[in-house]
Amino acid sequence: MSCLLEVKGLYKNYIHKSGWLPGKRVCALEPISFTLAKGESLAVMGETGSGKTTLAKLIAGAEPPSGGEILLNGERLETGNYRQRCRHIRMIFQDSLGSLNPQTTVGQQLLESLKFNTDLSNQEQVDRVNETLMKVGLLPDHFFFYPHMLSSGQQQRVCIARAIVINPQIIVADEALVGLDPSVRAQIINLLLDLQQDMGISFIFISHSPEIVKHVADKILIMHRGKMIEFGKTSELIKNPTEHVTELLLQSGIIKNQL
Ligand SMILES: Nc1ncnc2c1ncn2[C@@H]1O[C@H](COP(=O)(O)OP(=O)(O)O)[C@@H](O)[C@H]1O
Ligand SMILES: [Mg+2]
Repeated sequence: MSCLLEVKGLYKNYIHKSGWLPGKRVCALEPISFTLAKGESLAVMGETGSGKTTLAKLIAGAEPPSGGEILLNGERLETGNYRQRCRHIRMIFQDSLGSLNPQTTVGQQLLESLKFNTDLSNQEQVDRVNETLMKVGLLPDHFFFYPHMLSSGQQQRVCIARAIVINPQIIVADEALVGLDPSVRAQIINLLLDLQQDMGISFIFISHSPEIVKHVADKILIMHRGKMIEFGKTSELIKNPTEHVTELLLQSGIIKNQL
């Protein structure tokens, strides 16, 4: 498989602006390097505060890194060029309702994504939105719904539709399945796996659930206190975890300081 994403020495420091120690530097993510092939899915696991969301935001371009670089198909992604980034890499969050605009309809939100990122004509945009709604298991009528008129599973489907409508190469899902009831969660996982197969999208899943990770991920990356401590094929890490933290995460999804 060819290399799609290459993360090289990427790191992030934050400077605390308030609190007990204003000016204190926090290293949210220590230099990290890994690669992801086209169509491959990577699960990122780690306890709360280990730097998972920071990594996701840097990859999706939602935050600038303090250093290091990201290459997509061998081309360096420029920090300031958000348009270039979001054309290819989209993010889905846990809070689906909060990440949708409450004042515009589902259809308008998907159209906006197309207007911003593609040169399609108005009719082509409407057709693409309707096709995408069908792809994620929604109905053409949902075009005219406002987010609050949908169930949480349908809201998450809209977020997925908004992410895939522009045919991205990578989707980063940050704990996107938390809070959904088990049957809806299973439907959304199957939907993501179908999209991966049909559209060749690569996924980066941040998840605490060993069942989900084992089911969907080709590779697993384990974070601990801002560092990548393990990275490898899912089948190999399950059989042979070299770190105790990995073993705990793959057994129960939680480690002691999260209880
Ligand atoms: N904007 C920010 N300002 C200061 N510190 C931050 C900020 N965002 C994250 N951090 C810190 O970076 C560390 C990693 O956070 P995060 O990436 O959200 O972890 P996770 O998603 O694994 O729970 C935490 O210690 C957190 O407090
Ligand atoms: Mg997080």
